[in-house]
Amino acid sequence: MWKETVAVDSFRTQKSVTIDGNRYALFKLEGEVYCLDDVCSHEYSLLSEGEVWDREVYCPKHGSRFDIATGAVRSFPATEPVTSYPVEIRDGVIYINTDRR
Ligand code: FES
Repeated sequence: MWKETVAVDSFRTQKSVTIDGNRYALFKLEGEVYCLDDVCSHEYSLLSEGEVWDREVYCPKHGSRFDIATGAVRSFPATEPVTSYPVEIRDGVIYINTDRR
C-alpha cells in the first residue's frame, strides 16, 4: 500500500519517517529518492543517522555498509540486507510502498 511521507523539499540528504509504527529511512541521492528500512539488520541502530558515501550508507553503530538503492549489505558485521521500498514523488510529496514489510 502506498503511504504518504514528507515533502521532497523538507530535508537535505536523509530523513527518518515513522509509518504505522515502523521506521523508514529516506535518502536523496543524485536527484533520486530512495527508501530503506531505517533499522539496521544487525542490531538496533538507525541508518538515517549514518554517513553516506558513494551510494552507500554506513551504519552508525558498527559501520556495516548498505547499498542505498537496493538495501544490499556490503560489509560486516551485518550479513542480511535491509528492505528497499518503492518510492514515488507526487506533487512534491514522497510516497513509499510498504507492501514488502
Ligand atoms: S547495528 Fe548496524 S552494523 Fe551493527
